[in-house]
Amino acid sequence: MEKPIVFCTESLQVLSPAVQAYLEESVNLARCKDKPSYGELLPQLDDVDGLICMGYKIDARLLDAAPKLKIVATTSVGFEQFDLEEMKKRGVTGLHTPNVLNTTVADMILALMLAASRRMCELDSLVRGGGWPKAPFGELFGKDISGKRLGVVGMGRIGETMVRKAIAAFDMRVSYFDAFRKPEFEEKYGVLFTSFEELLRESDYIVAMVPLTKETYHMFGEREFAMMNKDTIFINASRGRVVDEQALAAALKNRQLFSAGLDVFEVEPIGADNPLTRLPNTVLMPHVASGTVECREAMARLAAKGVVQFFNGQTPENLIPFFAN
Ligand code: DGY
Repeated sequence: MEKPIVFCTESLQVLSPAVQAYLEESVNLARCKDKPSYGELLPQLDDVDGLICMGYKIDARLLDAAPKLKIVATTSVGFEQFDLEEMKKRGVTGLHTPNVLNTTVADMILALMLAASRRMCELDSLVRGGGWPKAPFGELFGKDISGKRLGVVGMGRIGETMVRKAIAAFDMRVSYFDAFRKPEFEEKYGVLFTSFEELLRESDYIVAMVPLTKETYHMFGEREFAMMNKDTIFINASRGRVVDEQALAAALKNRQLFSAGLDVFEVEPIGADNPLTRLPNTVLMPHVASGTVECREAMARLAAKGVVQFFNGQTPENLIPFFAN
């Protein structure tokens, strides 16, 4: 039997030789050297049965260009770029990469919390620029993290991992807000469920961990930043568009908040004209919370495994729940 054709848009850094070799045992792998643009990708999909990619809109236009497509695996846990209804209507299944990135992303959130509270980017720039502060330099002091109140908005798998680490490493007191409660988790770790408003008012650190949906778009805006206090440290490692960036930049500029650590932005990549880049009290990362060699290898491996399972007639372990049944 002919092997299915699987197109992978990712470079060698994402799809390592080991993962490629694994895939090639079961599928006919078509891999392009560089990540093509959406427009460049479409004409290459006419005979493709499977697609492994990251960040591309999987919409009616792409599906029209790929009439044989049966499965799309994104090498990310987020899949807001998938038009789920359209895919299901056309019998195309979707996979993502949950769980394997929990620890790595949780570590990045903690790193952002530390960097934003200890003003690491601001002080690093000072030192590099020859501006070693003269003692006493109290106006450049940061804030302690240990024992502070952490408020998590969206307690998913990554949130849980991060909370466990925040308690173990920094003895933090934790509150969370989510559409769903987790009583066992609350009890086991002494975590409090709270209203969104209370969390905004009471937390020293606020971590946005919600997926991007119609409901979560701009859930952090002018009103929400006004409810935080001048010592609050705001972290976003979920999706940029859950935050109204203009409102965040204004709040940071007016010192309504202490600082922010951001791995994601409304439009990526951001340019030097983004007001957040001109503020000293921001730590900005280029959407790399899962960007370690080990984690990206595990994500690629999981994506590949799911595709192989699918073509072997099995239920992929990383199936997006929407496609179950
Ligand atoms: C994800 O997996 O959704 C991350 O945002 C990618 O880094």
